Amino acid sequence: MLNIDLKGKKVFVAGIGDDQGYGWAIAKALAEAGAEILIGTWTPILKIFTQSWAAGKFDESRQLSNGSMMQYLKVYPLDASFDYPADVPQDIRENKRYLDVPRYTVSEVAEDVERDFGRIDYVVHALANAPEVKKPLLETSRNGYLAALSSSSYSFVSLLQHFGPRLNQGGAAISLSYLASERVIPGYGGGMSSAKAALESDTRVLAWEAGRKWGIRVNVISAGALRSRAARAIGSTGAMSFIDCMIEYSKANAPLTKELFAEEVGQSASFLLSPLASAITGVTLYVDNGMHAMGLAVDSPTMGVYQTL
Ligand SMILES: NC(=O)c1ccc[n+]([C@@H]2O[C@H](COP(=O)([O-])OP(=O)(O)OC[C@H]3O[C@@H](n4cnc5c(N)ncnc54)[C@H](O)[C@@H]3O)[C@@H](O)[C@H]2O)c1
Repeated sequence: MLNIDLKGKKVFVAGIGDDQGYGWAIAKALAEAGAEILIGTWTPILKIFTQSWAAGKFDESRQLSNGSMMQYLKVYPLDASFDYPADVPQDIRENKRYLDVPRYTVSEVAEDVERDFGRIDYVVHALANAPEVKKPLLETSRNGYLAALSSSSYSFVSLLQHFGPRLNQGGAAISLSYLASERVIPGYGGGMSSAKAALESDTRVLAWEAGRKWGIRVNVISAGALRSRAARAIGSTGAMSFIDCMIEYSKANAPLTKELFAEEVGQSASFLLSPLASAITGVTLYVDNGMHAMGLAVDSPTMGVYQTL
């Protein structure tokens, strides 16, 4: 029988803040396969995440198919916009949601994970941020653009720099991208489309460099639209939110008209990380009901009779 068996493997999932996003779904699928989960949660929401977990708010989502609950070994505070303590600006350091939280830069978290658990096996990058995401690229400021690239793209380079030397042989890393990297998706602004293009290009270069240096694999999943907290923050046009429009658009125009479930991305991520994908590196894998393959919108009124095909 062919199945994904990750018993004894440890994975660091960066970018879990609740049970609604892709990071959660990937952690859960990996837990289903037997992996042990370490979580990196954005520093300002660490308290609310751990309190919600302790209060049982995620209990329903934590149910695994064998009747047990998903557990984590440890949650680390993480702000993936910073590599070393000296990089953290004064206003952030003194912000009340950072003040009492130690060691959240990427280098410190990687050191702490090694101190706590030794080498681990996999790294998942499931985070993105763009302060000006609601602005078209033409109206995005330099600072907004660079902030999007810093927290959404360079953060993956940084995670690999610091975790790469701390992964076991056979280790792997993945991140999450979106079709806006290569096709125009109006509304996905603030430099986020640029950040996803960088993430996909970097995946190929990092696959080469990290493959030769440490023998680890690096891939990216281009995922379809999901109503996560981050996606809901992108904004709305008129009555409908951006993300709801994208979900409806996909149902109307993708080869597969079914809903896209976060679990499907979780399962694909587990495969890509697992030894079953031992010869796969440097790829962008589309997990989007086939939306990426389309060249036009079949529900457009201009399609006339072809709408029914
Ligand atoms: N939701 C979608 O439709 C969709 C589609 C394709 C790709 N993605 C990608 O999936 C990934 C996960 O996003 P999601 O949509 O599941 O939403 P999400 O809200 O579950 O995840 C985003 C996480 O990033 C964290 N974060 C933001 N800035 C951070 C920082 N500086 N350091 C550490 N953590 C930080 C947030 O706290 C949040 O937990 C992102 O890369 C996103 O671009 C999402």
